[in-house]
Amino acid sequence: MRTDSPVTISRQSYRPYPFEVTAVHLDFDLDPASTLVTSRLSLHRKEANAPLVLDGEELDLVSIKVDGQLLDASRYEVGEHGLTIHGLGQTVELEIANRCSPQANSTLMGLYVSNGVFFTQCEAEGFRRITYFPDRPDVMSRFTVTLRAAKAEFPVLLSNGNLIGQTDLPDGRHEAQWEDPFMKPCYLFALVAGKLTWRESRVNTQSGREVLLQVYSDPGNENKTQFALESLERALRWDETRFSLELDLDRFMIVAARDFNMGAMENKGLNVFNAAYVLADPDSATDANYGAIEAVIGHEYFHNWTGNRVTCRDWFQLSLKEGLTVFRDQEFTADMMATGLDETAAASARTVKRIDDVVTLRAAQFPEDAGPMAHPIRPESYQEIGNFYTATVYEKGSEVIRMQQTLLGPDGFNEGLAEYFRRHDGQAVTCDDFVAAMESVYQKTHPGRDLSVFRHWYSQAGTPRVKVDMRYDDATRRCTLRLTQSCAPVGVERLAGIAVKPPLHIPFSMGLLDADGKALPLKLAGSDAAASDSCLLELTTETAEWVFEDIPSRPVPSLLRDFSAPVIVEYDFSDAELALLMAHDTNAFARWEAGQQLATRQILAATDAVRGGQPASLSDSFVEAWRSVLTATDLDAAYRARALALPAEKTLAERMTEVDPIALATARDHLRAELGRRLAADWQAAVDANQTPGEYSPDPIAAGKRAMKNLALAFLLAGGAPQAEAQVSEQYASSKNMTDRMAALSALVNFGPREAANTALADFFERYQSDPLSVDKWFTLQATSRHTDVETVNGLMVHPAFTLRNPNRARSLVFQFCLNNPYGFHRPDGSGYRYWAEQVLALDRLNPEISARLARAMDRWIRYVPALSAQMKQALEDVRNHPGLSRNVTEIVSKALE
Ligand code: PHE
Ligand code: ZN
Repeated sequence: MRTDSPVTISRQSYRPYPFEVTAVHLDFDLDPASTLVTSRLSLHRKEANAPLVLDGEELDLVSIKVDGQLLDASRYEVGEHGLTIHGLGQTVELEIANRCSPQANSTLMGLYVSNGVFFTQCEAEGFRRITYFPDRPDVMSRFTVTLRAAKAEFPVLLSNGNLIGQTDLPDGRHEAQWEDPFMKPCYLFALVAGKLTWRESRVNTQSGREVLLQVYSDPGNENKTQFALESLERALRWDETRFSLELDLDRFMIVAARDFNMGAMENKGLNVFNAAYVLADPDSATDANYGAIEAVIGHEYFHNWTGNRVTCRDWFQLSLKEGLTVFRDQEFTADMMATGLDETAAASARTVKRIDDVVTLRAAQFPEDAGPMAHPIRPESYQEIGNFYTATVYEKGSEVIRMQQTLLGPDGFNEGLAEYFRRHDGQAVTCDDFVAAMESVYQKTHPGRDLSVFRHWYSQAGTPRVKVDMRYDDATRRCTLRLTQSCAPVGVERLAGIAVKPPLHIPFSMGLLDADGKALPLKLAGSDAAASDSCLLELTTETAEWVFEDIPSRPVPSLLRDFSAPVIVEYDFSDAELALLMAHDTNAFARWEAGQQLATRQILAATDAVRGGQPASLSDSFVEAWRSVLTATDLDAAYRARALALPAEKTLAERMTEVDPIALATARDHLRAELGRRLAADWQAAVDANQTPGEYSPDPIAAGKRAMKNLALAFLLAGGAPQAEAQVSEQYASSKNMTDRMAALSALVNFGPREAANTALADFFERYQSDPLSVDKWFTLQATSRHTDVETVNGLMVHPAFTLRNPNRARSLVFQFCLNNPYGFHRPDGSGYRYWAEQVLALDRLNPEISARLARAMDRWIRYVPALSAQMKQALEDVRNHPGLSRNVTEIVSKALE
C-alpha cells in the first residue's frame, strides 16, 4: 500500500537520462509464486559523475554485478522506488538479479498471472515492477529475452520480435530465446507464457516480404479468433495503401487475456489484448463488439509506426502516439465501412462513423474537459500518469490531429506524416516535433502562414465555444457571418489563476440554405474562388467576419459541418430552422446534429416540467420531424438509427445549470415512450422493413438494419404497443445472433414487464454461463436497469459468477451501475454514493488503476442539485480520508474536492 504524500511531476522538469542503455538481455525463470529475473544492461555514460538511478517497485533484489564482479553494498542504495548505484565508469556491463511475485500481483501491472497464463503490462510504468531499469520512454535499447518455464504448464513462450531458439531442458522445463531487432523503450516489452492455442496466416507485405500473423487465445476459443485475424490483415493492408507504412517485422502476434486493465497494448510484435477485443462469434458477440474488435486491432497495429517506431520523449507527450493513433483507427474504420459501396452510400457510412465518434467525444470528453480533471491534450503536470489515459488525450487528441488534416488537406497531411517519419524514425519525440513536421508542409501550401496559433490546442484545456452572429442585408444581398471564440479557464487552469487564454486556430466548416432548404452557392467577398456549397472558415483570432455575396434572402446557416473542430457552437436557431436543417441539409452530419438539438430542447423542457410537477408534453412539430426521418426513403438504416436515437444523458446533463439526474432520465424515458406511442405504425413498419434473414454477417449494411430495427422495437415497447412484447420475446428466443438477442433482452429489461424480463434473464445466464464475455453482458443489463438499486447490485455482487478481481467483470457491474444507472445510483437517500465509496476502497486494495477510474464517477458532483451534491461530496471526503489510499485514487478525489 502506498502511503507517501503525492508528488506533482511537471512537464517543464524534463531532463535527459544521463546514461545510454544500448542493450538489454532479460532472463526469466518463470514461476508463478516467485520469478527470478536476471537483467544484463550495457551502459554508456553520457554525463560525468551522475549516479545511475534505476526505477524498481515491489522487487526483491538478489544481487548486483558490475563487469562480472559482485558489487559492494557501500556502492548502492535500494529503496521503495528503486536502486541507486554510485561511481560507475564510462562503459559498464551491469547484471542485476531480482525476484517478483506474479501470482500475488492483482494490479495487472508488471508480470502477472491470468487464467494460468503469464502476461506482462508495462505501459506506462509497469516495467519497474519486473526489474530495476530506467523506466521512461526516452531510454531505448535493443532487447533479447530468454524465457524458461515448466513445459507442461507453459508450453507457449512468447516475447517481442523473432524467435531465435527453443530448447528442452532437464526437469521438464524448456526455454525460448527472442530477439527484437528494433530499439525500443521498456514500456513496449512483453512476455506471454502458458497454455494457448492460436490461429495464423501468412501474408506478403507491399514490398513482397512474407510475414506470419498469429492470434493466440485460451484453448477452446480457436473458433472465436477468425474475425480478429482477418481484421489484422485488413489493418496491415490499410496502413500500406493509406499511408505507405509497412510492417517491419517477420512476425506479428496478438494474445487475448481475460484479465486486462485497458483495451489492449501495442508491445512490439506482441500485442496483448483484453479478450473482449479479440474473441467473437455470431452467437456471443454483437455488431458493436465486432466493430470494436476491428477498431482496437487496427489501433494497436497502427501503433507500430505511430508509437513504436517513433515514440514519446516523456509521458506528457502521450497524445503524440494516442491522439494520432486514434485518428488512424477512426479513419481505418470509416474506410472499412465505406468499402464496396457506391459514392452516396459510402459518404453516408463515413458520416455514421463520424457521428459515433462525436457522440463518444461529447459524452466522455466534454464533461471531462469541464470538470476537475480537465487538462490539455498535452498535460502540464500529473501525480499518477495512469490517470492520464483519458478521453482528452485520446479522443480530443484525435480531433486535434483531424483538424491538421482538415487544414492541410488529405494529401498535405500524408506528406506531413511522411516528413515526420523522415525526421524522427527511431526517436523519442514531442508533440511539438509532430506539429513542426506538419507545419513544414503547411507553409509550403499556405505561404506566409504557420501553425503557431494552432499549437495552443496542445497547451489549453476546456471546450472552446464559438458564438455565431449572422446578419443579412436585403439591399446588398450580402450575408455576414461573425464568429467569436472563447474558452473559460477550467481545472488546473482555474486553480493556477489563469484568466485569459490565447485564441485557437479553429477550422469551421459551414454552408447556407435558402428557405426551402436548398443549398446556396457560397461566394466569399474578395475571393475569386469558385462558389461551392460548403466553405471552410479559419478562425485564428478571437473574432472575425466573413461576407457572402449574392444571397437572395435571409438564409439558414448550417454550422460546424462534419464537426470540423471540437467546439460548442452557440447560435440561436428557431425550432423551425432546426427542422428545416434536419429535413434538408446537404451535409449529413449537420442534418443529424439539427435533429439532436431539437430533441435536446424537448428533453430539457420536459425535465423542467418533471421537476415542477407538471406533465411533460411533446411538440407536434417535433414528432413530425422524427416521423419524416423514420419514413425517409433517401436515408439508409444505419444513418436513420443515429438520427432517431435520443441524445445521451451525459451530454444532456452538461446542458443543465443544475443536474437533476432522475428528472432528466424520467423526461428522456417519457419522450421515448411518447414517440413510441405516437409513431407506433411507422416504428412497426421500420421493424418489418429491416429484418436480416439468412446467415449473420457483421457488415455495416446488415448491422445498420439491425440497429434500426432494434431501435424501433425499443420505441414500440416503450410506447406500449400491444404487439411489441410478443415480438421482443419472440426475437429474444429465436434470434441466431447476439446483437438481436441482446437488443431484445435489453428492451425487455428496460421497457417490458418484470416477469418477462426476469424469465429471459434467467434463460440468458443458463445459456451463456460458460462464456465470460456474455456473462459480462448479463451483469451489465441488470446493472443499468432502472429497476436496479443498491440492494439489487449487492445481491449480484455475491453471485458466484461475480468477482472484483477481473476488471471486465468489475466494469460490467460496479462501473455500469455507478456510471450508467441514473435511477439507481442517484437515489435521493445517497445509498448509491455510499456504495461507490465502498467499491472504490475495495478495488483500491486490489488494483489502483481500475479503482481510480471508478473514482471518476464523481467528477461532476458539484453540478448536481444541492441535495445530491452534498451527499456526493461526503462520499468523496470519506474516500479521501481513508488511510493507505493509492496515489492513483488520491489524485482523483483530491482534485474533485479542490
Ligand atoms: N497504449 C494502449 C493503447 O492505447 C493503452 C494502454 C495503456 C494499455 C496503459 C495498457 C496500459 O493502445
Ligand atoms: Zn493507443
